[in-house]
Amino acid sequence: MISVAIDGPAGAGKSTISRRAASELGFTYVDTGALYRAIGQACTNKGIDVSNSEDVVKILSETDIKLTFTDGEQRVILNGKDVSAEIRTEKASMTASVVSAIPEVRQFLLGLQRSFAKNENVIMDGRDIGTVVLPNAEIKIFLTASPESRADRRTKQLAAKGIAADYNDVLSDIIKRDHNDSSRDTAPLRPADDSIIVDTTNLTLKQSVKRITDIIKAKL
Ligand code: DC
Repeated sequence: MISVAIDGPAGAGKSTISRRAASELGFTYVDTGALYRAIGQACTNKGIDVSNSEDVVKILSETDIKLTFTDGEQRVILNGKDVSAEIRTEKASMTASVVSAIPEVRQFLLGLQRSFAKNENVIMDGRDIGTVVLPNAEIKIFLTASPESRADRRTKQLAAKGIAADYNDVLSDIIKRDHNDSSRDTAPLRPADDSIIVDTTNLTLKQSVKRITDIIKAKL
């Protein structure tokens, strides 16, 4: 089995690039951010304030999260309900970032994430895949881009989905999330020592996908 870990900050293009690279190479693409988003959604559904980590931890035992994969498309099932669409709002992004700093939440999701890499070739994207989840991954990539270009892409992505978003709001959210994700004590966002850093600021999507698939193919 081959595991490819792709980590990096929000909006660097990890999910789009990973999905395309996985489809080209016949690997399963696992988006781990969706798991943190699902925990955030579980809290929202129950009216729990995520800044109260004790309350968040309490609901974990009654939270069941499954990922299903159909034709390379990942769906997120929270307590039997498909929440794939509702976990994509900017509010859900911020909630996910807050719950992801809670050590018990990270521990809760660890086994689930590792189980995906046991029986198939995976490209798994997240923040701590190369450092914590799959430290023995054959290939580790840290995908990054300037905050401005990430905000610009995110704003356009949201607009394409019919969600109006202001560039400056998106930029300040990205900077805040970068700070949250990099400064937390447990599994902070950082490149693994043995990762290859790819900066997509000046690359098109097509060039980025090629860069990633070339790196993977060279190691197969
Ligand atoms: O990749 P994303 O934007 O869907 O991730 C949502 C949040 O989850 C993000 O702010 C950080 C967190 N996350 C994490 O801490 N570890 C991961 N492996 C994936 C996501």
